[in-house]
Amino acid sequence: MADVTVRPLSELDLDGITRIDERITGRYRPEVWEERVTYYIRRDAEASQVAESGGKVVGFMLGEVRGGEFGLEEATGWLDFMGVDPDARGKGVGGRLADALLAHFRSAGVHVARTMVRTEDEQILGFVRSIGFAPAPISSLEKRL
Ligand SMILES: CC(C)(COP(=O)(O)OP(=O)(O)OC[C@H]1O[C@@H](n2cnc3c(N)ncnc32)[C@H](O)[C@@H]1OP(=O)(O)O)[C@@H](O)C(=O)NCCC(=O)NCCS
Repeated sequence: MADVTVRPLSELDLDGITRIDERITGRYRPEVWEERVTYYIRRDAEASQVAESGGKVVGFMLGEVRGGEFGLEEATGWLDFMGVDPDARGKGVGGRLADALLAHFRSAGVHVARTMVRTEDEQILGFVRSIGFAPAPISSLEKRL
């Protein structure tokens, strides 16, 4: 794989992100990603990151700083969505994306990052634990409607 560059997300990355999501989920959802890309760029143009290799997007990580969740006043850096092209995995791309996103959170004065992962998503859980996330003292509950 050619050299990997990590840089902030831009609108032009939409096709690349949609393609990676399609490879991961088997679903082609350009409208979903258009909405998300627009949202994250508008919220904070420097936070969300993409990894590029040979002019092609090979990974993305979307997140933002939010405050006041769970009755906590402290602003929190949220890692919301991520994906690395299956052909580019295991080479540190996800780790580099996380380094850039977390560095941005730190530079914004944030002291804690959070993410939510379904218990069955063992691959993502393994990844986030290996980059330093640990179970939080928060109970996650839901009610079916
Ligand atoms: C999770 C994911 C982002 C990891 O990307 P990656 O580029 O392969 O990760 P890296 O190569 O940077 O690995 C970083 C660390 O995570 C660890 N890691 C990666 N995948 C792992 C796994 N499945 N289990 C345990 N650890 C894992 C690596 O061993 C590495 O640890 P180290 O630094 O101690 O060696 C990638 O596998 C992916 O996109 N998965 C699908 C995500 C998805 O389903 N997204 C849709 C919902 S938002």
